[in-house]
Amino acid sequence: MTDVVFKSEQAALALLAALPKAELHVHIEGTLEPELMFALAMRNGVALPYKSVGEVRAAYAFDDLQSFLDIYYAGTQVLITQQDFFDMTWAYLERAHADHVVHAELFFDPQSHTVRGVDMGTVILGIHRACQQAAAQWGMSSALILCFLRHLSEDDAIATLLAAAPYRAHLVGVGLDSSEQGHPPDKFARVFAKAAAQGLKLVAHAGEEGPPAYVWQALDVLGVHRIDHGVHSMEDAALVARLAAERIPLTVCPLSNMALQVTPNLATHPIKTMLDANLCAMVNSDDPAYFGGYLNDNFAAIITALSLSPQDVLTLVRNGFEASFIDDRLRVQYELQLDNAMAQWTVQHG
Ligand code: ADE
Ligand code: ZN
Repeated sequence: MTDVVFKSEQAALALLAALPKAELHVHIEGTLEPELMFALAMRNGVALPYKSVGEVRAAYAFDDLQSFLDIYYAGTQVLITQQDFFDMTWAYLERAHADHVVHAELFFDPQSHTVRGVDMGTVILGIHRACQQAAAQWGMSSALILCFLRHLSEDDAIATLLAAAPYRAHLVGVGLDSSEQGHPPDKFARVFAKAAAQGLKLVAHAGEEGPPAYVWQALDVLGVHRIDHGVHSMEDAALVARLAAERIPLTVCPLSNMALQVTPNLATHPIKTMLDANLCAMVNSDDPAYFGGYLNDNFAAIITALSLSPQDVLTLVRNGFEASFIDDRLRVQYELQLDNAMAQWTVQHG
């Protein structure tokens, strides 16, 4: 193991291929590639406002989070049957497996489906079946996190939690996503308390576009176990100290931050500063079909832009397992696999 830069791009790619990884921040609806979007639109007789896959990709130029969300929610309209949710999830899991992801925690946005008359069970069972197949076929572990849409009311979120009650066994936690500005975490205090009482883990998007105050609220009012994104935390030294002292994980998504203009470019992305501040930051793809890359693409991009060392990459991957909601026995197994893979890579490329 060294603390120097990679000897070559090939050595970096070899490390990414070799290391088993966890992905904890991926919206399953954000993995819907335009090709599958078109296939499902045909299958379900849904009209899309695009003539071709090329036209869809051309529409993926975003000014901010809201300009992305408008297109993202429009894309979800092709998802109607349990098979649609299975197909979308399976396509993601195949790509994640190819990136050597061994554990994935998947966000889903049920309110974007139930509002169109799609049943909660259709959504959860379709996603869950694909996860079961990945476990059977590759031994990949996974878990589902139900996200509340923060631009809707808390009452709507409470009704959503109630509708998911029959599928409680398929969920590991709840999250909070969608338009951040003007929708602070404390708007959802009651529904998060209800979820906590059910033994669900708690996460929330905070500090993506919103201020550090939203991260404080997510911690102190909602009691979350992890912060999704959290990049604006870096503007508040007392918050950084708190995140470090309590090892509160930040699920960071570099290509997403660049695509949504949260950071002007990757060279100024704070993930390296987060590591230097001893934060439990890790790398994720967020909405890979929209932001130009899956997990290893995100790693490769920041290795180049921030001159990360092999040790930095190992720390980011290790943080992913530390931050995950797997049980400690499995965590130890994955960490052992990780150390072995790193040792082997170091012999060949270090
Ligand atoms: N839903 C899907 N992707 C999201 C993001 N990056 N931020 C907030 N909500 C989202
Ligand atoms: Zn997200």
